[in-house]
Amino acid sequence: MLRLFRRPLTILAFESSADDTCAAVLTSTRKILSNVVIKQHEVHESWGGIHPAAAVMAHQRNMPIAAKRALTEAGLDISQVDGIAFTRGPGIGGCLGVSCNAAKTLAAVHNKPVVGVHHMQAHALTPLLTSWPDVPSFPFLTFLVSGGHTLLVLAESLTSFKIIATTRDESIGRTFDKVSRMLELSWDGIGPGAALERFCAGPEQGSLPDGFYPFPRPMPGQLAFSYASLHSHVERYLHFNGGIESVSLPSKLAIARSFQLAAFSQLEDKLLLALQWCANKSLDVRHLVVSGGVASNTLLRERLNACLKNAPTPLSVIFPPPSLCTDNAVMIAWASMHRFLAHDYDDYSINPRAKWSIEELHDKSEDRDMS
Ligand code: KG4
Ligand code: ZN
Repeated sequence: MLRLFRRPLTILAFESSADDTCAAVLTSTRKILSNVVIKQHEVHESWGGIHPAAAVMAHQRNMPIAAKRALTEAGLDISQVDGIAFTRGPGIGGCLGVSCNAAKTLAAVHNKPVVGVHHMQAHALTPLLTSWPDVPSFPFLTFLVSGGHTLLVLAESLTSFKIIATTRDESIGRTFDKVSRMLELSWDGIGPGAALERFCAGPEQGSLPDGFYPFPRPMPGQLAFSYASLHSHVERYLHFNGGIESVSLPSKLAIARSFQLAAFSQLEDKLLLALQWCANKSLDVRHLVVSGGVASNTLLRERLNACLKNAPTPLSVIFPPPSLCTDNAVMIAWASMHRFLAHDYDDYSINPRAKWSIEELHDKSEDRDMS
């Protein structure tokens, strides 16, 4: 990326695809000048998950604050910014609209170019920013594990991605959220997934309650994920055994730990299949990038590192720092950089795309789609 430009560019970026309102300023020389993330956990905790209308309202309230703070912390005013990027999709339609309109309006008024970014591409490319100069080389494998997606992808270039495996039902992050809710863990301002990880990390011991069967290992031998079966497993046990009130704290701990291990074992199983898939295609893949909110989990990091030590193909695993695994606007600015450097801008009439496969980055046919 660096070799393409004549002078460093400074990009302001916005992200509001789910429940975090984010704004950041990044230079093309990889300097993060600011990174503002305003969480909405207190808005959604009582709903037990993201409430779309409440999320839109919170984004509308918070985006001007985030944008102003990002510029102030960067020590810049808008005239010193070279371009404005935003998350175009995929995500919750109304939420995407907040960043999209903020970016387009500011850009139009101040005569700046604008670029709409694919959220999952941004997660995948984050290590090209954060691991510099030891960045992954294309093609690399990437796990994109978030609240909306569970993808195992072959990244062939900055803009070309092939999905090797996806989920047949719900995402790993959503399953963490549901299990955390069923176990009645308090989000404590960190969100349901991180709350489950923190609950599991304590020193106390516990054993699974009688009648709690081992978690399933779905679709053995197939390059596909299933996470709904894991949360149904907990749900069914609670339903037939008197609910969460009947589960002692040590048993609850054992259920949470066993769930975490099952969730991550599935990733390990599919990773080994994907390595075989790459070998069959004689692909020279040397790196695995793991990104998205769930990639901030410490146990997942340990497990994947251990799994790859015994893998038939040597592969180094790269995680962005946890704060850049969960949603942020730095990754959006970074994923837009190659386009700003190439003067490849979007029109001010660009709309969000709530549904947008990472394999369709080049597809312009839906550019006027309002979905
Ligand atoms: O990438 P992200 O911030 O937002 C989306 O693009 O969806 O991912 C959010 C997801 C949520 O489901 C959240 O509970 C989960 O990532 N998550 C975690 C952890 N931190 C966030 N899951 C497990 N362990 C964590 N430490
Ligand atoms: Zn995300």
